[in-house]
Amino acid sequence: MSATLVVGAQWGDEGKGRVTDLLARDVDFVVRYQGGNNAGHTVIVGKERFALSMIPSGVMQPEVVPVIGSGVVIDPKVLLAEISMLEERGVDPSRLRISGNAHLIMPYHRLLDAAQEDSRGDRRIGTTGRGIGPAYTDKIARAGIRVQDLFDRDFFAAQVEAAVADKNRLLTRLYDQNPLDPVPIVEEYLCYADRLLPLVGDTSRLIWEALQDGRKVLLEGAQGTLLDIDHGTYPYVTSSNPTAGGASVGAGVGPKAIDRVVGVAKAYLTRVGSGPFPTELFDEAGDRMVDVGGEYGTVTGRRRRCGWLDLVALRYARRINSLTELFITKLDVLSGFPTVRAATGYRHAGQTLTELPMRHTLLADCEPIYQDFEGWEEDITGVRSFADLPRAARFYIESIEDQVGVPVSHVSVGPERHQVAVR
Ligand code: GDP
Ligand code: IMO
Ligand code: MG
Repeated sequence: MSATLVVGAQWGDEGKGRVTDLLARDVDFVVRYQGGNNAGHTVIVGKERFALSMIPSGVMQPEVVPVIGSGVVIDPKVLLAEISMLEERGVDPSRLRISGNAHLIMPYHRLLDAAQEDSRGDRRIGTTGRGIGPAYTDKIARAGIRVQDLFDRDFFAAQVEAAVADKNRLLTRLYDQNPLDPVPIVEEYLCYADRLLPLVGDTSRLIWEALQDGRKVLLEGAQGTLLDIDHGTYPYVTSSNPTAGGASVGAGVGPKAIDRVVGVAKAYLTRVGSGPFPTELFDEAGDRMVDVGGEYGTVTGRRRRCGWLDLVALRYARRINSLTELFITKLDVLSGFPTVRAATGYRHAGQTLTELPMRHTLLADCEPIYQDFEGWEEDITGVRSFADLPRAARFYIESIEDQVGVPVSHVSVGPERHQVAVR
């Protein structure tokens, strides 16, 4: 049994795509286990940049079988467009396998996502607008439509008709919108079915058999620990479990099958959308992270909020995911800062906190307690070994290790596949 998990240790966009691409060199299967096309995972190979939202980043490695597990919600139009995009650009996605248990994102999910955000006013979550929350809501309410339902056209049509009748009541009476006609929706989705169904199967069994045969499996998370529906900064979270437990459920493997848990964290911190962010910067340092780090969303193009690394949050991610190692990304972005800071605790109402407070509303009033680190001037984008990093950069990474309590196995120093310093 040997599955490795790549999990976001912050608020998403840590660089999971590039980490998965790198680790996928040594595996046979790469499985996405949750989320949907709210994810945007960037892989850069030479001069080519790929932004993947649905297909596991392992697809870039020619021998790897990419798998979409049952925990993912699938917008078939987006998935098929991504398949076509890869084909056009010379990447072969034909090995892709899709779980029949995965739920479909339907057009009414997107409408409801937008309508719910509007109605939240000041308390809007800042969702990606892809229908993710409403699709997972239907799944939990046992009102969802699954990929396997597409096999029986009449059954599928009946499911959509019932769902649309239900959603039309919401759309017209609660949100003052026009009702939807189920007929074109059924037609549209049955067209997608012709292309998708050959790829659909029992993926948890596929993974089980692979593990039994001694093949290597990598599980690729979307989003991150602090966006987890159970363990994140609720309600400013996504509607799935990006954390390690979610990997087991969403891929359909028992937790004992996972023996390596790689937490991916930026050397600083970003967040897209609303919600508390104690170390957020509103000064030139934050602007510089946006500019140098190119901190704009892969999916929505939104400017990411930036701040210093939060070690309290990272220790929390270690605990929630049982991290066995950290992969620190974007260290190059911090080159040239005279001082680099990291929060080791928070001050709240005269008290010092070293753990994330149980009541997440308190985070809004938590003032970070910073440790200051000497910066480094050198361009480190060409460094490929930890020992060759400037002394100050090494000290910063070693301090992260000490504070979080797990080893840092890799440090990336640029977005391209090979721009990694291995420990
Ligand atoms: P993901 O959602 O976790 O896969 O991360 P994203 O792809 O949304 O965002 C990470 C961004 O940082 C992408 O634009 C990557 O190309 C870029 N990136 C990843 N690692 C590094 C790095 O070490 N240095 C720099 N400068 N950019 C990086
Ligand atoms: P990757 O996989 C960063 C955020 C949204 C919003 C909240 C809920 O690229 O790291 P949703 O559309 O999921 O209902 O939005 O979650 N969010 C992400 N932030 N990276 C992501 O994915 C995200 N996916 C969702 O901005 O705050
Ligand atoms: Mg992303």
